[in-house]
Amino acid sequence: MDKFLIRGGARLKGTVRVSGAKNSALPLMACSLLSDGQSVLKGVPQLADIHTMGRLLENMGARVTRSGGAVTVDTSGVRNFEAPYDLVKTMRASVLVLGPLVARFGKAKVSLPGGCAIGARPIDQHLKVLEALGATLRVEHGYVYAEAGRLKGCRFTFDIQTVTGTENALMAAACAEGTTVLANCAQEPEVVELAEVLASMGAGIEGAGTERIVVTGTKSLKPFARTVMPDRIETGTLLIAAAITGGDVMLENAIAAHSSAVVAKLAATGVQVENGESTIRVRAPDGPRSLRAADVETQPYPGFATDMQAQYMALMTVASGTSVISENVFENRFMHVQELVRMGADIRIKGNVAIVQGVPRLTSAPVMATDLRASAGLVLAALVADGESVVDRIYHLDRGYEGLEKKLATLGAMIERFAGRWPGKAPGDA
Ligand code: EPZ
Repeated sequence: MDKFLIRGGARLKGTVRVSGAKNSALPLMACSLLSDGQSVLKGVPQLADIHTMGRLLENMGARVTRSGGAVTVDTSGVRNFEAPYDLVKTMRASVLVLGPLVARFGKAKVSLPGGCAIGARPIDQHLKVLEALGATLRVEHGYVYAEAGRLKGCRFTFDIQTVTGTENALMAAACAEGTTVLANCAQEPEVVELAEVLASMGAGIEGAGTERIVVTGTKSLKPFARTVMPDRIETGTLLIAAAITGGDVMLENAIAAHSSAVVAKLAATGVQVENGESTIRVRAPDGPRSLRAADVETQPYPGFATDMQAQYMALMTVASGTSVISENVFENRFMHVQELVRMGADIRIKGNVAIVQGVPRLTSAPVMATDLRASAGLVLAALVADGESVVDRIYHLDRGYEGLEKKLATLGAMIERFAGRWPGKAPGDA
C-alpha cells in the first residue's frame, strides 16, 4: 500500500499544469454508450477511477483504448447491460451507466453503490427520474433492474440537487421521445460540459448551468469528440498548496470561473490571487500565519465545493484566528479532522460544523487517508508541518489526482511516494 513521505517547510514556487476533470471525464465516458460507434475524449487524466470506468465499459462489450491523454470508446460491440458489484463498489460513479443503458438498450442491471466513507450516498433521485421517464425499476439482491421501451419526455423536479442524478437524467432524456423539463438541477460545470456534448450528439438542451434544463430527445445520437475541461478541484487543491506554504505558484490550464467561490474565499483570507485567461497565479508571501481565518459553508455549485472542504480546513489550521467550517452536502465528511488534530491542529466538531482555531505550527505525524479529498487535506497539512510526515493509504488520492506528488515536487515540495514500509524511521516510530 503506497504512502507519501513529506518533509514540511518548502515554499512552493513555479508553474504547474492542471489535469483534465475526473468528474467530467467519468460521465462523458458513460455518455458514449448513447451512441453506436467511436467517441473520443482528450485531456483525460490517468486516474484509478478512469481506469475503473474503462473496465466497466469493456465488461459491457465496448472497446476502450487509451493513447496519451486520449481515451477512445467504441460502443458498437456492447451486448451486456450490467454493472457488477465488484466494479461498482470501487467506484460509485459507475451508477452513471444506468441512464445511458436504459435509454439506448431499454435494459440495465446495475449494482447499488453502497455507502462510502463520506456518507450514505443514496441514488433515490436517479431512480425517480428514470421512472418518471417511463422506465420500470425494481431493486433486489443489491441491484437495480431496469426495463423500458422508448423513454418518454416528462416534467420532473429533483427533491435535492444531485450532480450525477442530473447527469443520468440528461443522458436518459436525450434519447427520450419529446421534451423533458428538469427542475432543481445541479449547476456544476461538469453538468454543463455533459450537456454541451449531448447537444453535439444531436440532442436539444437548453438551460444547463441553471436549475431548470429543457431536453428535446432524439432517437439516435452520434458519437462525440471532446477535450475534457480542467479539474476545478485539483485547481483549488493546488491553490491551497501554494497558500499554505507561503509560495508563489502559477497554474496553467485553469478556469478561474469554475473556482470562483474558492478563489473569493482565499482572497478574503489575504491570499493574493490573479486570474488570467487560462491561468491563475496565487501568492502568500508572508506565509499562512499572515492569513486571516474565514468561515465557510459548503454548498452545491456555485457555492463553496464540498470537495474543497478538507483542503480549506488544512489551511485554516495554520491561519490566524478562528474559522467555522460547515459541511452541508455530506453527512460524514470530517474524517480528516482527527488526523489533522494528530498533527497538532486545534479543531472541535459540533454536528456538521468544525470550529478551527489556527495554531502557530503543525507537527509531523504518521496519518492515514480515509477518502479522496481528506487525503488531499492531509498532504497539504504535511507540506507545512515541522518534520517528516507519512501519509498512508495513498490509493485514495490516486483515484482523483494525477501524479500529485510529481506536481508538488516540481514546485519544490519535499515529497516522495514509497510502497510498503518506509525503510527509514517514520515519525513517531520508537
Ligand atoms: C458528485 O457526487 C461528485 N462525484 C462528488 O465528488 C461530489 O462530492 C458531489 O457530486 C457533490 O458535489 C462525481 O461527480 C463523480 P450528489 P454525487 O448526488 O453526484 C444526496 C469527489 O471527491 N443525494 O450531488 O454522488 C447525497 O447523499 C467526489 O470527486 C440523495 O439524497 O453527489 C448528498 O448528500 C466525492 N439522493 C447530496 O445529495 C440521490 O439520489 C449531493 O450528492 C443523490 C444524491
